[in-house]
Amino acid sequence: MEIVVFRDPGEVGQHAAQMFARQIRSNPKSVLGLATGATPLPMYRELIRMHRAEGLDFSEASSFNLDEYIGLAPDHPQSFRHFMQTELFDHLNIRPERTHVPDGLAVDVEVACAAYEAAIAAAGGIDIQVLGLGANGHIGFNEPHSDFDSRTRVQPLTERTILDNARFFASVGEVPRRAITMGIGTIMESRACLLLATGSAKAEVVARMIEGPVSEECPASILQRHTNATILLDELAAAQLSGVSREPAS
Ligand code: F6R
Repeated sequence: MEIVVFRDPGEVGQHAAQMFARQIRSNPKSVLGLATGATPLPMYRELIRMHRAEGLDFSEASSFNLDEYIGLAPDHPQSFRHFMQTELFDHLNIRPERTHVPDGLAVDVEVACAAYEAAIAAAGGIDIQVLGLGANGHIGFNEPHSDFDSRTRVQPLTERTILDNARFFASVGEVPRRAITMGIGTIMESRACLLLATGSAKAEVVARMIEGPVSEECPASILQRHTNATILLDELAAAQLSGVSREPAS
């Protein structure tokens, strides 16, 4: 894993956006793996700026999101589809039919999960996947003890994740208890993985992910075995690392 530490979340977002921009410029038909949550927002703002100011062109790109809550309609304000529309897609020239988010209302969820996997494969696989990091070590919604070989599937959310995500809902009771998530096996097949973590609340789990054993107790630790994984941190998230340089990148 390559680990780079920046001063603040804004710099993390800028660097992440530059990595995505390089990928898109080198192959306009790139397949982008996307995440929701607070962490990638500075990156998405920078991609929007690059599109407007520098003409970064998404017209031939496609995208696959990591996950979606079960039971929320695409236009529900807390659905991940709605998040992606308002925070990114509506501000780029990516073609709507080339953006993919798991269907939280699928009647036959198993069929929908298999179809999602098939769509990723048909697109040629994911070129670069951005990941956030759950306080319990999850990537996507692969909670602790998820199988490292897992594929897109239904995942019950842990109490910790429900509480962490309650900040986006009116009350904790409104947080869905299950989600569809790409599996860890699916994520690990991405040709490049880019994990972002910012803020002191992530410091402990960042240290476990990077310096702890590769263990299903901390799903993100599997990235130690990815051949092209980059971890972008701000100083607060890097604060509990002992074995890597914490000098901020220039
Ligand atoms: C979101 C996702 C999650 C989040 C993680 C961190 O699509 O897959 O793994 O990346 O829960 O969320 P934030 O960034 O809000 O701290």
